[in-house]
Amino acid sequence: QTSTSTDEPKTTKKMNLLDNASNLLTNFLSGGKITSMPVAEGAVSDLFGKPLFFSLYDWFLEHGSVYKLAFGPKAFVVVSDPIVARHILRENAFSYDKGVLADILEPIMGKGLIPADLDTWKQRRRVIAPGFHALYLEAMVKVFGDCSERMMTKIEQLLEAEASRGEKTITLDLESEFSSLALDIIGLGVFNYDFGSVTNESPVIKAVYGTLFEAEHRSTFYFPYWKFPLAKWLVPRQRKFQNDLKYINDCLNELIKNAKETREEADVEKLQQRDYLNLKDASLLRFLVDMRGVDADDRQLRDDLMTMLIAGHETTAAVLTWAVFLLAQHPSKLRKAQEEIDSVLGEGRTTFESIKKLDYLRLIVVEALRLYPQPPLLIRRSLKSDQLPGGYMGNIDGYGIPAGTDIFVSVYNLHRSPYFWDNPNEFEPERFRVQKSSQGIEGWSGFDPSRSPGALYPNEIISDFAFLPFGGGPRKCVGDQFALMESTVALAMLLQKFDVELKGSPDDVELVTGATIHTKNGLWCHLKKRSNVQS
Ligand code: HEM
Repeated sequence: QTSTSTDEPKTTKKMNLLDNASNLLTNFLSGGKITSMPVAEGAVSDLFGKPLFFSLYDWFLEHGSVYKLAFGPKAFVVVSDPIVARHILRENAFSYDKGVLADILEPIMGKGLIPADLDTWKQRRRVIAPGFHALYLEAMVKVFGDCSERMMTKIEQLLEAEASRGEKTITLDLESEFSSLALDIIGLGVFNYDFGSVTNESPVIKAVYGTLFEAEHRSTFYFPYWKFPLAKWLVPRQRKFQNDLKYINDCLNELIKNAKETREEADVEKLQQRDYLNLKDASLLRFLVDMRGVDADDRQLRDDLMTMLIAGHETTAAVLTWAVFLLAQHPSKLRKAQEEIDSVLGEGRTTFESIKKLDYLRLIVVEALRLYPQPPLLIRRSLKSDQLPGGYMGNIDGYGIPAGTDIFVSVYNLHRSPYFWDNPNEFEPERFRVQKSSQGIEGWSGFDPSRSPGALYPNEIISDFAFLPFGGGPRKCVGDQFALMESTVALAMLLQKFDVELKGSPDDVELVTGATIHTKNGLWCHLKKRSNVQS
């Protein structure tokens, strides 16, 4: 059910009057013209049945690249425009915070980078970002390879067991396998802890999944039920959540204690030059604890680790899941990827250097991120009134917004916008090879790879915010290169050894979302050993 601003239902009228009064003031103060934003009227049923970002896409096509979504008394501004996204995320980034997202994540991540207040964020970002330096990433590529190898060995063993029964194929939920793989990698990369989840189950793994499940559940709810007094103790799921959280906290605190006991203080430059490939502990925690002049308390370190554990786990697992889902529907692209892998790697391991030669595979990873961005929406709240710039569609004067406006920057809409992409819903990794002009859109400088020299993967800079899988501006993902290389290595090692087919029809793979887009019942695939690969 949708309506435009000229045809608004009574239920939202009061709120819109208040908003309009405030817009009037903002526009007066900012010298902008007074215009009212198109309104999409969401029904409660839009929250159920199908992921919300699907409806946001339909309304984007109907109402334009900036519109207001009203859910009863609650309203969000939905942005699907690179110029406006650039303004919010980069040019005027510090006029916004994470709004609802911080409310949801704060109980889990504390003052970790994602929900942190501005002061804490500034301090911690300065310390954490240098931890993702080149030698660390190179060492991580080895970790990606080691962990992926464990997954491939497991699949081989399952295939061997089937072979003894005369079967050449096994059927596996690859989403769940990727989730285990990504958990093992993030544990080792961030705090040098081997969850071993590809091959085992343990109480700590269960606690991590319990916590992720709760984070996911909270992010699909609009009502902060967990803030109810006594909910922690009275609601069984909340009790379980508190127990899971305590379990992980105890584990992280122990790791922090050990790291502090073996601290070897050094300046950042020295830390970045350590022999990472041969270090027993190349983790980010080691880097953070050893950094001279930064004495983060245990609580802050716990928050940092927990944030990266959650931010870097399901997101990467989801990229791998959707990359396989897409490839399985495009056998000729799958074969092309395998040919590239064969010619670059042969039967060898993926290295830091070989990633640079896997051109097509890297594009497959980014194309999967274009079609299935994780998360599909970025959430912001304005800290003060602001004048959004005019987008390429709709009102060219832009819109004034009052302080406290909740905003969804729909990465999904941007990535599938028919105004920027040819065949936006098609899986075409090759599209990133084509240099595009600005298409004559004022204020948007178009696609131009030369704007990001040396970048291995297309990013928001080359597309001037039409493609922003890791966000943009100061709050951009710190783990982007880590995640992209991790996905490339894992995908290379899977396709090097196995042929993959979907078990049923692609339409049977239902989508659900919380923080990421994942499947409802798993990505069930048939796997068999590639015929041209000798073991
Ligand atoms: C922030 C995506 C992997 C750590 C973000 C943001 C996005 C994103 C879109 C910006 C959020 C916003 O502006 O509201 C992804 C995707 C990943 C991935 C798609 C995998 C494919 C990782 C990994 C790590 C990580 C592996 C850590 C090892 C973070 C952190 C932030 C962040 C700490 C907050 C940055 C800040 O506010 O300063 N991520 N991420 N992410 N990501 Fe990632």
